[in-house]
Amino acid sequence: MLILGIESSCDETAIALVADGNKVLASEVASQEDIHSLYGGVVPELASRRHLEVIVPLFRLCLKKAGFENPLLGKPDLSAISAVAATTKPGLSGSLLIGENFGRAIASALEVPFFPVDHLEAHLSANFLPEMPPFPALGLVVSGGHSSLFLVTGPNGFEVLGETRDDAAGEAFDKVARLLSLPYPGGPQIENLAEESKSPVRFPLPGVRNSYDFSFSGLKTAVAYYLKGTPDAEKAEVAAGFQQSVAEGLVRKLDYAYRREPVRSVLTGGGVLANNFIRNRLKVWAEENQVELRIPPIALSLDNAVMVSLRAFYQK
Ligand code: KG4
Ligand code: ZN
Repeated sequence: MLILGIESSCDETAIALVADGNKVLASEVASQEDIHSLYGGVVPELASRRHLEVIVPLFRLCLKKAGFENPLLGKPDLSAISAVAATTKPGLSGSLLIGENFGRAIASALEVPFFPVDHLEAHLSANFLPEMPPFPALGLVVSGGHSSLFLVTGPNGFEVLGETRDDAAGEAFDKVARLLSLPYPGGPQIENLAEESKSPVRFPLPGVRNSYDFSFSGLKTAVAYYLKGTPDAEKAEVAAGFQQSVAEGLVRKLDYAYRREPVRSVLTGGGVLANNFIRNRLKVWAEENQVELRIPPIALSLDNAVMVSLRAFYQK
């Protein structure tokens, strides 16, 4: 079964062709960082316009890379595609519509099924490569738009345990970066700056006590107050202190959930997992608790369309 996956929920357009839920024939991502960095965050109207511009060329590129361009016919051969899947929620509505509309049109022309896919479930489905993790699992998605905790009972069983009550973790990285006059997206900037730190500032832990829910806006505000009250603050020490607080908050949340849901593995996803300090902190926690931790390679942790094809494969 060959599934064409489409992702356009935020500021990346992505297309993938995945066979039988495990063979990635092509995966392309077009980032929009260049346009949004000028504004310090994602501008929804510009995002949907860019998706519209790049989606067809990106699709053609994928077909070429997968070897589906037929030189004799002079046009791509789409007959091997057995289903189409696109992210339909959550995300920016205009951007989501571009991918869904494109996917539905192709599915209709090819007379194959169309699968609507949840973006967060797709992030966690990226952990199903190279082989299935043991279930039940906890699922942690931390990105620019989401901080969510799931109980994953199987490849098609996703139950939301908790969500952020305000800012997402990545959003907090981006906002703190702005406070430190660093460009968008802030996550990688903060991580780089934090490497120069010798004695990180101590900030309160993010999150909501005794709950599966997250909260990052208090931590962001604490950083803002610190900067206001400390004119000669060392930026690297602030960045490192903030990063440490986020990592510790995520581990505490996992720990809280693990005490209540004795799972066999922990699945992760989202742009914030590109952060090495956070990855390492989670690894230490997993080792201490002897639970299998899955962190997909960076290309599959960030927004991509392989995860959309995978989610649809197990949804069928
Ligand atoms: O998953 P993603 O690519 O897109 C969304 O679905 O939001 O995540 C983007 C977010 C941004 O907020 C960005 O600042 C954050 O992930 N991010 C990082 C790092 N790389 C990206 N946060 C912390 N450290 C990083 N190295
Ligand atoms: Zn995402």
